Amino acid sequence: SPTRIAVDRDALGAAVPHRLFGTFVEHMGRCVYDGIHSPGHETADAAGFRADVLELVRELGATVVRYPGGNFVSGYRWEDGVGPREERPVRLDAAWHSTETNQVGLHEFAEWADAAGLEVMEAVNLGTRGVAEAADLLEYTNHPSGTALSERRRENGRDEPFGIRLWCLGNEMDGPWQIGHKTADEYGRLAAETARMMRFIDPTVELVAAGSSNHEMPTFGAWERTVLRHTAGLIDHISVHAYYEEDPDDPASFLASGAALDRYIVEVAGIIDEVGATTPDGNPIGISVDEWNVWNQTRWNEVDKPRVFTGDWPIAPRLIEDDYTVTDAVVVGSLLITLLRRADRVSMANLAQLVNVIAPIRTEPGGGAAWRQSTFHPFRLTAEAASGRVVVPHVEGATIDTARHGAVDAVDAIATVDGRDVTVFLAHRDLHAATEIELDLGAVDAVEAVVVTIPEGGDRHTTNSAEGEPVSPVALNVRVGDDGILRFTLPALAWARVRAR
Ligand code: AHR
Repeated sequence: SPTRIAVDRDALGAAVPHRLFGTFVEHMGRCVYDGIHSPGHETADAAGFRADVLELVRELGATVVRYPGGNFVSGYRWEDGVGPREERPVRLDAAWHSTETNQVGLHEFAEWADAAGLEVMEAVNLGTRGVAEAADLLEYTNHPSGTALSERRRENGRDEPFGIRLWCLGNEMDGPWQIGHKTADEYGRLAAETARMMRFIDPTVELVAAGSSNHEMPTFGAWERTVLRHTAGLIDHISVHAYYEEDPDDPASFLASGAALDRYIVEVAGIIDEVGATTPDGNPIGISVDEWNVWNQTRWNEVDKPRVFTGDWPIAPRLIEDDYTVTDAVVVGSLLITLLRRADRVSMANLAQLVNVIAPIRTEPGGGAAWRQSTFHPFRLTAEAASGRVVVPHVEGATIDTARHGAVDAVDAIATVDGRDVTVFLAHRDLHAATEIELDLGAVDAVEAVVVTIPEGGDRHTTNSAEGEPVSPVALNVRVGDDGILRFTLPALAWARVRAR
C-alpha cells in the first residue's frame, strides 16, 4: 500500500534558521592546503585560492563557515597567521600531527569566505590559551581603530573591522583527545569568563559554548548541565557534535541515524530547559550542531591514525578522506530532515567539513580535479529550497525495525512553506523495495521533483570520483491526479525533493 503524506500549509512551525546550512573548514589534512588553497593550481588566484573549488563551494549553497578548528584550534596561535606571509612561523600541529605553514590565516580566510558568500564563525583557543588571547583576537578582528591590535590589523591590509559576530568558545573540551582537555567545571568557568570579556569588548557578539563531543561521552548530560550553569546569561548557543557511521552488518540502523540525532537534540533541549539557561536577551539558549556528518571513525582509528601519528610531521597529509556512497547521501539527507524538524531548538548547524576532510567536495592530491561527492547533493538541494517555516507532515506508511533505534518510518519527511512555495524533503530508508507515494499539498500549480538514488548499473555502495559523478540528482516523475494528489514512486534507498507552488 502507498505511503500517504499530507502537508497542512497552515500548520506553520519554526522559521528555517538561515544558519542551518553551515559548513566547516579546519586546518586539518587537505581541507585548507591542497583543498581550498593551492597556489600552484591552474585556477588559483593571486592569494593561492582555487577558483574551481570556490565555484563548487558557491554551488553547495552553504551559509556559514566555522574556522579554523576543530581540534586544531586548541593549540593554535592566531597571531601566527597574520602579517607578511614570509615571516609567519612554521609550527607543529599537535592535534593532527602535521606541520602548519600558516600560509593561510585570518585575513586570507575571511576574504575567501567573503568571496564564497559565507559568514565566518570563528573559534577561539581555550585549550592552551584563555581569556586574554580570545580578547586580543576579538579586538584585532572587530575594533575599528586606534588601539595596538586594531592598528596592527590595518597595517596588515584590512582597514575596516572584519565584523565577525559568531564565536565558538573552544572545541570539544570534554574529550581526552583535546589539547588542554578540561573538566566541566574548569571549562565552564573559563568559557564564562571568556564570554564576559568578549562581551565587554564587543556586545554584539554571539557566543557558542562547547557541549559534549558526542552523545556517547560518559560525561554527556552532566557536562551540559555544569557548563550551562556557569555560562547562562553569557552565551547564545551550546554545541552538539554528531557523526554517524555504518556498521556493515546493520545498515538499517545507520539509515535511521536521524532518530539518534533527534534524540540527542531533544535531550540537550531538555537540559537547557531544566537549567533554565537563557541568552543575555532572556531567550532559551540555542543548539548549534556545529559538527555533523557521516564519518567512518573505525577506519580513522584503525588505518589513518596509525599511519599519520608515526613521528613524521607531514604538511597537509591525506586525513579522513571518506568516499561517500549512495547510502551515505541518503543518511546525510535524512540528518538534514532531522535538523529541520528540530528547527525550534536548533539555531544553526555545520556540515563537517567542506573540502577533502569528510567533505562534500574533493580535490585530487597535488592539484588535480575537483569533484562533488554523493553527499553534496542532498545538502545543496536542501540549502537551496528550505525557506520560510517548517511544517511537520503527517506520514502514514511502513516502518522499519532497527536494532539500535527501534522502529522508524521507512519514509522520513519534512516540509517547508514560504508564501506559496512548499517543498517536501524525503528520505526513503528501505534498502530493498520501492514505495508509491501519495502526497497531499493542497492545491498546486507547478511541481518540480528530483531524486538522488542508486544509479543505473550501480549499487548502494556506488561513489563519485574524479572520473565521474554517477551519484547525482535526476528528475523524478510526479503525476498530479484530478484529486490534486501528487503520485510518484520513490525507489529503494533514495532521497528526494519535491517543490510545488
Ligand atoms: O571534524 C574532524 C574533527 O572531529 C574535529 O577536529 C573535532 O572537533 C571532531 O572530533
